[in-house]
Amino acid sequence: MYDVPRSNAFDDIYFSVENGAEESEFVFFKGSNLPQSWDTNSSYTIAETGFGTGLNFFLAWELLEKNAPDLKLKFISYEMYPLDAEEIRKGLSRWGSRFENKIEKFLSLYPEQRETGRHILEITPSLTLCLYIGDVNECLPMTQDIVVDAWFLDGFTPAKNPLMWTDTVFKNMARLSKEGTSFATFTSAGFVKRGLQAAGFDVEKTKGFGRKRERLIGKFTGEAASK
Ligand SMILES: C[S@@+](CC[C@H](N)C(=O)[O-])C[C@H]1O[C@@H](n2cnc3c(N)ncnc32)[C@H](O)[C@@H]1O
Repeated sequence: MYDVPRSNAFDDIYFSVENGAEESEFVFFKGSNLPQSWDTNSSYTIAETGFGTGLNFFLAWELLEKNAPDLKLKFISYEMYPLDAEEIRKGLSRWGSRFENKIEKFLSLYPEQRETGRHILEITPSLTLCLYIGDVNECLPMTQDIVVDAWFLDGFTPAKNPLMWTDTVFKNMARLSKEGTSFATFTSAGFVKRGLQAAGFDVEKTKGFGRKRERLIGKFTGEAASK
């Protein structure tokens, strides 16, 4: 067992105690049919609510290198309480050298002041990270000129962090989606399911990771509002 990074403010953990990387791969990547979906695309945009330690971002980078080195990946993430460099290193230390070079490369570009607003980090010629620092309810409505292919909904659990699962979030997801845009999340909370459906997503309850019984995945079938 290892120390899982925890938020005292939200009384919740950043990723699963069982195995955070495996859970992320199962919930977010398999849930979005990745990396398979990359075969038919030359560019791809993932948008995530909750950057945290960056585990999902480092996994996406690893998967990109292994499976689709020619793809241009844009990874957008929304984070209100950005961790500092040491917290990120410590949080991901459980994986030893697996992400070490990637973490250091990312930290060399990570803004020291972490001011509210949009920060664009050109990580490699194939990978851009667009990190919005601030409340997702304010930053998502400010987001323009992108079409998301896959949403990773990774706020803390809805019961403890309802602000990450609001109608503002769901409506803006719809605004930035096209037909077939996917979403995936570890939760199966009823109000999340209903909120996503009301915004135009087809929602499927499916088997969760490990002891979690269910998670939600789905696709946008509604009409995207003007971008
Ligand atoms: C479960 S953690 C994310 C884990 C992360 N994806 C990872 O790979 O480590 C949830 C994140 O949501 C952030 N958060 C909580 N409320 C927020 C809000 N209103 N707007 C933006 N981010 C928020 C927290 O600070 C935390 O980093």
